[in-house]
Amino acid sequence: MNKKLIELKNLSFSYGKRKILDGINIDIAQKSFTVIAGESGSGKSTLLYILGGFQRPSSGEYLFGGKRVYGKIGEFGLGKFRKNNIGFLFQDFRLLPFLTVEQNIRFPAFFSGRKVDKTQMLKRMQKLGIDHRAKAYPTQISGGEAQRTALARALWMNPPVLLLDEPTGNLDHTTELAIVSLLEELRGEGLTLVCVSHSDYIMSRADVTLRLHDGHLDFDKKKVARRGRK
Ligand SMILES: Nc1ncnc2c1ncn2[C@@H]1O[C@H](COP(=O)(O)OP(=O)(O)OP(=O)(O)O)[C@@H](O)[C@H]1O
Ligand SMILES: [Mg+2]
Repeated sequence: MNKKLIELKNLSFSYGKRKILDGINIDIAQKSFTVIAGESGSGKSTLLYILGGFQRPSSGEYLFGGKRVYGKIGEFGLGKFRKNNIGFLFQDFRLLPFLTVEQNIRFPAFFSGRKVDKTQMLKRMQKLGIDHRAKAYPTQISGGEAQRTALARALWMNPPVLLLDEPTGNLDHTTELAIVSLLEELRGEGLTLVCVSHSDYIMSRADVTLRLHDGHLDFDKKKVARRGRK
């Protein structure tokens, strides 16, 4: 078992008076693959924002590598945490409309002043099947191409942790297989993966599936049962 990278301890979150997450406890090991499932509106994206350093919890602790992420840290510190540790695929992609596919992918590197390895970028774009749309703008590409562009951007800085909100929601099964194979390859190189998904295929590839319901997280009993039968 790899060592713990992420720990949530009794973590809760409310939008105003409405409690969305209620006393969540999770340990996520380095190089593991966790899926978060749950019905629409159950708080999956909110939980991912907290893990990504985008949203402060209302109470409880988030430890990353044993250190508190939120606490006294300001927005600048959170920005640094995200830049060093997190790749994030937003459910609504959040591509910048005035940049091309290729420029969107390169944007985080440009922003952080890091050098771009063009050969690696081209290879990834080919693997994700978006290289032929490199010069197109977000309004000129399909939903699935936008999703894969956003994924390429999330991967671009080779982050140690990748948080993906429905990475294959718009994709056919063949493209889903290609994406999961890329993610598994990166995981072999040390990536820790947390993915919100409803896909049976993605769940079948994960180490653990957690299900959000009424603000609580349960292990997916079906998956535990399936594993028990092996
Ligand atoms: N900024 C906000 N202010 C108030 N309520 C919000 C805000 N963002 C989300 N919510 C509400 O919080 C609840 C959880 O939202 P969240 O987006 O985390 O759900 P989800 O599980 O990701 O749903 P889906 O599967 O539809 O993406 C929803 O009822 C949503 O309407
Ligand atoms: Mg969501």
